[in-house]
Amino acid sequence: MSHTVFRKMFRSRNCPTDRSVLTDIYLMEIISRQQRMASLAKKLRRENKVLGFVPTMGSLHEGHLSLIQKARQMCDVVIVSVFVNPAQFNENSDFESYPRDLTSDAEYLAPYDVDYIYAPEASEIYGEDFTTFVTVDDISEKLEGASRPGHFRGVATVVTILFNTIRPDFGYFGQKDAQQVAVVKRLVRDLKFDTEVIVMPIVREESGLALSSRNSLLNDEDRAAAAVIRKSLLTAERAVEKGEEDAGTIMQIVSEVLESESSARTDYIALVDPDNLDPLERIGDGPVLLAVAVRFGDVRLIDNIVLQEKQ
Ligand code: PAJ
Repeated sequence: MSHTVFRKMFRSRNCPTDRSVLTDIYLMEIISRQQRMASLAKKLRRENKVLGFVPTMGSLHEGHLSLIQKARQMCDVVIVSVFVNPAQFNENSDFESYPRDLTSDAEYLAPYDVDYIYAPEASEIYGEDFTTFVTVDDISEKLEGASRPGHFRGVATVVTILFNTIRPDFGYFGQKDAQQVAVVKRLVRDLKFDTEVIVMPIVREESGLALSSRNSLLNDEDRAAAAVIRKSLLTAERAVEKGEEDAGTIMQIVSEVLESESSARTDYIALVDPDNLDPLERIGDGPVLLAVAVRFGDVRLIDNIVLQEKQ
């Protein structure tokens, strides 16, 4: 079957008293074939529809939802891809164990007026004898790239394929993955994609922990302890607001706060230019990205804050 139609009928949240009335019926099509996705997107473009595209790997949570809701506000048609991209995983076991549940993702999206879910098999994206990869040099090797070689080549390649299939007006990405944002922005700029990249802020738990599909792998103790990451970033922000400019001192502040949690193992703390990820020695006038990766047991978490962001 090339595609299935997912129907969800639900009662409006706005009229809980009138429980017998079905106020909305949303139709959301799940597309699995690349050709169908491409021809449908082409037809919609010809109808002058503004296309919004949110690439994901599924296991959807409120972080993804913030991108989807922004797309819904800005666009006529919202397309969400759910594709666990083998090319961006370093470890096959990590790829195999990545959570996949398309039915629950589709159910999760049903109330949010998404028009299409594009959920292809890997063979639809990477055909036989696939040999063309897209590499965004330099920025791909830093930070996350150092511990995950080839990761951003996989990201840049799949984003290129998805953008070429859908040719969206807007593509939505989360600031949670700040380096991915830098890589995708550069990709779009250098290869002249006719898609505008929209970046949405990090969505967090009440504790401050950034939402991530990996959080479910943390035990209760580590999950509570992981709130220290946000605390470390905010402590650095306060120091900068009070006039601290030296990168070494700021990173030391972050390190000390992280060390206050005995279960936290710091992977890296970096103070860099948000566009090219070059390390900075001093804070200047422009925005600065403070990015960290911290392990709790086997779970590696990333987070960041942009200091001196223009309001
Ligand atoms: P995935 O990890 O599923 O994330 C999809 C999008 O959701 C990314 O742009 C990510 O930055 C954003 N996101 C995740 N957690 C968030 C949070 N707490 N707040 C805000 N945004 C958040 O990132 C990928 O998939 C893949 O690399 C992909 C771009 C789909 C390419 O395969």
